[in-house]
Amino acid sequence: MIKVTVPATSANVGAGFDSLGLAVSMHNVFTFEESDRIQIASSDGTHIPTGSNNLVFRSARAVYDQLGIPLKGLRITQRNDIPMARGLGSSSACIVAGILGANALLGDKLTSRQMLTLATAIEGHPDNVAPAMLGGFVTSVYDEGQVYSVKKCIDTELAFAAFIPDFRLLTSKARAALPAMVSHKDAVYNLSRAALATAAFCDGDYSLLGVATKDSLHQQYRLPLIEGGYEVFELAQDMGALAVYISGAGPTIMAVIHRDDTEFFDRVAAALPQNEKLRHFTVHRLLADNVGAAVEVQ
Ligand code: HSE
Repeated sequence: MIKVTVPATSANVGAGFDSLGLAVSMHNVFTFEESDRIQIASSDGTHIPTGSNNLVFRSARAVYDQLGIPLKGLRITQRNDIPMARGLGSSSACIVAGILGANALLGDKLTSRQMLTLATAIEGHPDNVAPAMLGGFVTSVYDEGQVYSVKKCIDTELAFAAFIPDFRLLTSKARAALPAMVSHKDAVYNLSRAALATAAFCDGDYSLLGVATKDSLHQQYRLPLIEGGYEVFELAQDMGALAVYISGAGPTIMAVIHRDDTEFFDRVAAALPQNEKLRHFTVHRLLADNVGAAVEVQ
């Protein structure tokens, strides 16, 4: 049996739309066994598709197809700790698991880069699948069917506060809210900040993150889809976060904090029930995952 553990991810990191992403300490666990039919089960009661449309199975099948190997079925189990459609990379976790699981079953024929390229082709952009696979803070570019990525381990001095609401927001809906065209000014606003955020993570200068995670390409269009989103930004900033941004396509809002600022969570826990608009959010303390997806043969 092959066991694959994949971390949750937080994409965009503000300005780095479809490019930057980081992995955090929340994981889905998958198992894979050969089978002559499709047998898919959730080990935690989460409702998942159990047929050939299951994303883990579809991603595994892409590996078989790429290698020209026929596939009748697989036995797959999923444990889903990453909440679905919350901007924490649950789809990417399924894609990465399917690819890594199938590659392990088939004798590790694909390289990491081939697997990352395949995962990106399925997802459409690399900013979740790259940190899900590699861990850490990852800068990626998808160019002419190839993914180019640089991983930097995240400083253990940092922690993350994920404000997760009790409602879902589909990425397709959050992408449909974006304008087809943006101004040169907005493009420069973001590219300069995405570059600065990357440099700040590499250099360990976290005082830059507040400015470096500001954005004009997607957050202003998505916040109206996230009830209480503005209020969470304000709250996390008031409580001393180094940076606050919409995690992926939302609706989770991510705050970056100093790891030793444990009082941040006490302050937030006291403040959340005070505001009606914040009541459907729960805050989760997460650390960086610098390992990425792990494959074990059992
Ligand atoms: N970069 C993507 C987006 C992440 O913001 O739509 C979600 O898949």
